[in-house]
Amino acid sequence: MLLSSTQKIPEHSAIPRHLAIIMDGNGRWATRRMLPRTAGHMRGVQSVRRIVESCGKAGVKYLTLFAFSSENWRRPSDEVSLLMRLFVQALEKEVHKLEKQGVRLRVIGDLTRFDPKLQQLIKEAEAKTAHNDSLHLTIAANYGGRWDILNATQQLLKDKPELIQTPELINEETFSEYLSMAFAPEPDLFIRTGGEQRISNFLIWQLAYTELYFTDVYWPDFGAKQLDAAFEWYQGRERRFGRTSAQL
Ligand code: FPP
Repeated sequence: MLLSSTQKIPEHSAIPRHLAIIMDGNGRWATRRMLPRTAGHMRGVQSVRRIVESCGKAGVKYLTLFAFSSENWRRPSDEVSLLMRLFVQALEKEVHKLEKQGVRLRVIGDLTRFDPKLQQLIKEAEAKTAHNDSLHLTIAANYGGRWDILNATQQLLKDKPELIQTPELINEETFSEYLSMAFAPEPDLFIRTGGEQRISNFLIWQLAYTELYFTDVYWPDFGAKQLDAAFEWYQGRERRFGRTSAQL
């Protein structure tokens, strides 16, 4: 079982063990070039490839990418369809390569709203890469942090209905086991590209003590150089987890 940062001060090193990214700015990248927004998403997939590779080389162990939020269904239907097609294509084309690279792929979120074909591809991709351990790549799709917390609460009570009589027995440890990232340590570093400075309902439970890095660079322009800059910034942070500087 993984203890959370509020229970035990985690060990940390120069390269984040877990990196979580909100890949923002695809639409604006395209609009600036008088291209349809969907062109930005297609370029965004290339950045995903680059970052997976760079993270693998740098020694990041867990990489979690926010690909589609619970709120993204509010977008125009042709953009939502394109994003779904990109997921399908990426799963069909890339899984073999990911498997060879030692990447274990997981998809988190409420997948029940996706087309059954996409759900099946996700299951197959997860099974095919389940033996890998060099980089744990997690794609958050139809994911929302509040959904995650509510879902965990529902699953916990379904599993252990007796806790309704003794709610004081519910603690961080027992609860977080039901969250969708229960297999990973909490993110050390969070990156959001595209200039906005918010969490947008991403891993709201898990980001409690994460270092937050915001850059104006649009996601399609984010590559190895920009990742290095984020790591350099991270190395300059003093991670106190509630302690004073003098105690470090
Ligand atoms: C945010 O840019 C990006 C998204 C909502 C989708 C991210 C998807 C990809 C990078 C491609 C598919 C990914 C995988 C893993 C196959 P935005 O559209 O909100 O940009 P904007 O803020 O400039 O409008």
